Amino acid sequence: EAAEKCGFEHFMLKEICEQPKALRDTLRARYKDGSLSFPVQIENLLENCKHLLITGCGTAYHAAMVASYVIEQVAGLPVEVLVASELRYRPHIRKEGEVCLLISQSGETADTIASLRLLKELGIPTIALTNVVGCTLSREADWVLYTQAGPEIAVASTKAFTTQLLSLFTIASLIAKQERSGLLEALDQLPGKTQLLIDRQEDIQRFAASQFNKTKVFFMGRLVDFAISLESALKLKEISYTHSEAFAAGELKHGPIALVDTSTLVVALCTQPSLYAKMDSNIKEVKARGATALVITFEDVHTFDDTADAIFRLPQTHPLFSPVLSVIVSQLYAYYCSVLKGNDPDKPRNLAKSVTVE
Ligand code: G6P
Repeated sequence: EAAEKCGFEHFMLKEICEQPKALRDTLRARYKDGSLSFPVQIENLLENCKHLLITGCGTAYHAAMVASYVIEQVAGLPVEVLVASELRYRPHIRKEGEVCLLISQSGETADTIASLRLLKELGIPTIALTNVVGCTLSREADWVLYTQAGPEIAVASTKAFTTQLLSLFTIASLIAKQERSGLLEALDQLPGKTQLLIDRQEDIQRFAASQFNKTKVFFMGRLVDFAISLESALKLKEISYTHSEAFAAGELKHGPIALVDTSTLVVALCTQPSLYAKMDSNIKEVKARGATALVITFEDVHTFDDTADAIFRLPQTHPLFSPVLSVIVSQLYAYYCSVLKGNDPDKPRNLAKSVTVE
């Protein structure tokens, strides 16, 4: 096992640090010589799709959420996102031109497989997005796309998630009605930008050392930042056992603010330029109640300089692609909190890598 960790203390840290390569490998499979490359049947299916349904569980569901914002924005295609553990029990009303994308790292999650079987019975074309060649999902779906993350050992998903995001961004670019070239250029640069973040992991380690004892951690954001807030809170609770929650920042006043006090860390994800002012006012509200505020935003943004207690700056990218960068900050934060608390981040209590029974 020590050999497999290649000198890293834990698989989770190794897998976080492998993201630039995993992303490059995943991109290479879908983007060659300056253009997108998909199996022709999948390309036809996606280009003629009128309504996209995306499903998955846990982290894969959060990838689906991010994709819904991105695909609607760049491709103008209606996207519905349902968690697979609910989808399988809901009456499903088939829409004209509907296609379903099922996301699962392992391809063995019971609820995702049950959803696939239900949708196939309804005659809806299905595409699996998975990381494991030959898994059940890949064998049963009509079509399959693979992420190239390599084996993911740690229970908490890291490189599988970011490679899912990158794959979903290539799908969004494929069906984009607006100018594709700007998107492709941004995608091409993303793997390299993740390396810049990983090189600064000590900054996150230092911040974690000052905060890991906080008993309440809230993550808030709007649009893709909301989806990454959910993923960040999940990661932190999974491995550090800290009570963490996420909400759409606009919902702050509809409940969460009642819990904010001096024992609260609020992480504000702020990567959507048109919403910086709204986020700044939310941060002021939690600060007024004694919370500590960490802001995650792009370099060159100064809106939060006087409001935040700490700012973590991301390399600039297309704002819709920020999740691949912002989530790495959360992964590292969760990892260091877990280690500082004396936990084993690779094998969190009560959790399994793959939930194959209900
Ligand atoms: C478990 C894992 C999560 C994962 C989820 C879905 O809960 O601990 O990391 O996101 O299952 O797994 P899948 O293999 O379907 O992506």
